[in-house]
Amino acid sequence: MLSANMVELAYLFAAILIIFALKGLASPESARRGNMFGMLGLGLAALVTLQMDSVHNYAWIVAAVAFGGLIGGVAARKVPMTHMPQTVAFMHSLVGLAAVMIAVSAFLDPVSYGIANAEGGLYMASRIELFLGTFIGAITFTASLVAFGKLHGVLSGKPLTFAGQHLVNLVLGIIMIGAGVVFCMTGGALPFMLMLFVAMVLGVLLIVPIGGADMPVIVSMLNSYSGWAAAGIGFTLGNNMLIVAGALVGSSGAILSYIMCKAMNRSLFNVLLGGFGGDAPATVGGAAIGERPVHSGAAEDAAFLIKNARSVVIVPGYGLAVARAQHALKELVEKLLAMDVEVKFAIHPVAGRMPGHMNVLLAEADVPYDIVHEMDEINPEFGDTDVALVIGANDVTNPSAKTDPASPIYGMPILEVSKAAHVVVIKRSLSAGYAGLDNDLFYMDKTMMLFDDAKKACESILQALD
Ligand code: TAP
Repeated sequence: MLSANMVELAYLFAAILIIFALKGLASPESARRGNMFGMLGLGLAALVTLQMDSVHNYAWIVAAVAFGGLIGGVAARKVPMTHMPQTVAFMHSLVGLAAVMIAVSAFLDPVSYGIANAEGGLYMASRIELFLGTFIGAITFTASLVAFGKLHGVLSGKPLTFAGQHLVNLVLGIIMIGAGVVFCMTGGALPFMLMLFVAMVLGVLLIVPIGGADMPVIVSMLNSYSGWAAAGIGFTLGNNMLIVAGALVGSSGAILSYIMCKAMNRSLFNVLLGGFGGDAPATVGGAAIGERPVHSGAAEDAAFLIKNARSVVIVPGYGLAVARAQHALKELVEKLLAMDVEVKFAIHPVAGRMPGHMNVLLAEADVPYDIVHEMDEINPEFGDTDVALVIGANDVTNPSAKTDPASPIYGMPILEVSKAAHVVVIKRSLSAGYAGLDNDLFYMDKTMMLFDDAKKACESILQALD
């Protein structure tokens, strides 16, 4: 058994490892190392906690770890890469649920948790901790479930709005905080349950009006909430490790949300109030999606354009993940480099369905990091690019974000592919992307549409080049 000082020292060491993990995860090059640090840090924290004398019943713990580990292990093998965003949202909901369950259990038996006097009266500080942990956990739980439903397609991605929505949310917010304050003053069960119930309803109402285009910010906001919920549990359990780890996740999620908002030119306040984006017009310039004429071509035509280019910029999007085309694309890139064509990748911060989605795919296929460029770096280069090769990307290239003030994505910075001399777009049809919008890029004279699955198209272009 470690002394209390040794436990705190081990926790400090684990916290440092977790900080190294976050630092490592900031770049695809160091992400694997970062993951390793994270696993070591959390493993150390878990081992140190398990040997504490406050842990009594190992049978329950082993059973829970085996049961949860089995589900997690099977899910990790079965869940396809394209379902990662909703899986992450679901994980956030579990963190929220854990916070709520611990709060309820601590409220029901405060003496066992050491947060009450001998008569069972909750200490004032513990009431405040329970208040914060419970409402953040409850909002995280239901909001993440709705985000899961939207990302998985079981709920509509369109914003669900109704008259007086913001007023209803405001009133519910006041009731929740009011009930929390009464709970802090009295320690009563009724205000506690009322606060919990209202927080759960509020979690649902805060997410249903969020439109498709704003989901990236919401995913990272929920990541942040789940961190704060874990920190809240840490206070209730008197566990410094949980407080530190929760605060690190909470603050890094908040910073990520800020970066996402900046990348999409949205104010965080507007996104959180909901109801923006996704209510896309079905028509552009009077024509329904896909009704205007386009120039379409075959893989041989794309190969001809690319073969004669000095520079090619590849813009990957969600379709690359759907088609699992990253390995075929890597082969195509190797071929082009061998033909002395300059190849670069252009990554939009919200391409795909989760932060860093495209970087993960490209890293999986061992695409060299030095040819992968972020939006701000690559945008000035499109003017000197011979061919922009758009693979399964749509919204992140949509010029209406710059030209159409009525567009739900107006103001969002895009990859300026239309500045390239030629544009080749690989996708299966003229269907809209996540934001539900038509894309003027597809109808430009310089654009050639190659209608095919991304993987098949990459293979066909490679074959044509051979
Ligand atoms: P999208 O705009 O969603 O477009 C993806 C395109 O891929 C679709 O138009 C689809 O067209 C095509 N596609 C699908 N399967 C394909 C396949 N097998 N082969 C070839 N093409 C295929 O993607 P994007 O440009 O990456 O933009 C991301 C969008 O998702 C943004 O609106 C963003 O706000 C939103 N979002 C992002 C995140 C994060 S954090 N990144 C989270 C949630 C939502 P076809 O059906 O015609 O093939």
